Amino acid sequence: MAGVHVVGSFNVDHVWRVAHLPQPGATLSGSYATGPGGKGFNQAMAARRAGAATRFVCALGDDAGAQLARGLCASDGIALHAAASSAPTGTAGIYVDAEGRNCIVIGAGANAALAADFVTQALADVATGDVVLAQLESPLDAIACALDAGRAARALCLLNPAPANVAIDETMLLRADVLTPNETEFAALLARHVGTRIDADAVAGLDQPRLHALCRELLPQGTVIITLGASGCFVSHPDTQRCGDTAACYRIAAEPAQVVDTTGAGDAFNGALAASLAQRPELSFIEHVRFAGRYAARSTEQAGAALAMPHLPAA
Ligand code: RIB
Repeated sequence: MAGVHVVGSFNVDHVWRVAHLPQPGATLSGSYATGPGGKGFNQAMAARRAGAATRFVCALGDDAGAQLARGLCASDGIALHAAASSAPTGTAGIYVDAEGRNCIVIGAGANAALAADFVTQALADVATGDVVLAQLESPLDAIACALDAGRAARALCLLNPAPANVAIDETMLLRADVLTPNETEFAALLARHVGTRIDADAVAGLDQPRLHALCRELLPQGTVIITLGASGCFVSHPDTQRCGDTAACYRIAAEPAQVVDTTGAGDAFNGALAASLAQRPELSFIEHVRFAGRYAARSTEQAGAALAMPHLPAA
């Protein structure tokens, strides 16, 4: 069966739960926890726990964080390809408020040392039907190589353009078969690539024809899924390539959830989407998206990032 190849970051997350997210100059009290995270690793855990054979390509330091990554990959059955770096393993400081919303500061550390050559070698055996999934917490030349390896093998290439503050150029967009921004990332991409300025908070409220037209301008050759948190998601396909769907665009409502922590919810969606696409190619695209939405909703009901990914039986 086809597998999922995730290229991206591993971070040790340091998480403070607070009543309200801090304002500048504020000192707050909160409860503290630490655990594994990083968008790449969270997505790899989601893909694996959603049942897919999963490889994770990253860079790690020589420290306790790296041991944590290695131990979890071994226990969850993720094939780890980790480049060694003299920098400390990546870290993230995360505040989570009483409603489960977060804000995050990343210390890239070893993640910044992921080299393009290492990625190319690690992905030498990607096969047609596999899924390659990348985000933007690693060097962009390494991400480009990951997507190039996927394209060369006629694997499906998913690009999650997160976080929003990392600017990518047109050539990176052209490498994606499926692009999965949240509303903040979508607004940033529109401003940069389409020249259209829309407030991120307004994205979910745009009508379907307008959203579809913007997606088509942004990624004419590929599918765009805008994840909209509590408003669900919006899917836009090129008219000539609907991936088994009857409609070229549609909305899917959010799955109800008892939200504890939204950290990593987007990662859960991406990992589960990749797993579903790799494992069940016979399904229409809307079924993959529904599955990913349900999986992401369940992930928000646990605190933490990578360890909040639900276990599902293999397909
Ligand atoms: O998407 C959530 C993740 O973003 C966290 O786990 C943190 O490490 C940052 O990479």
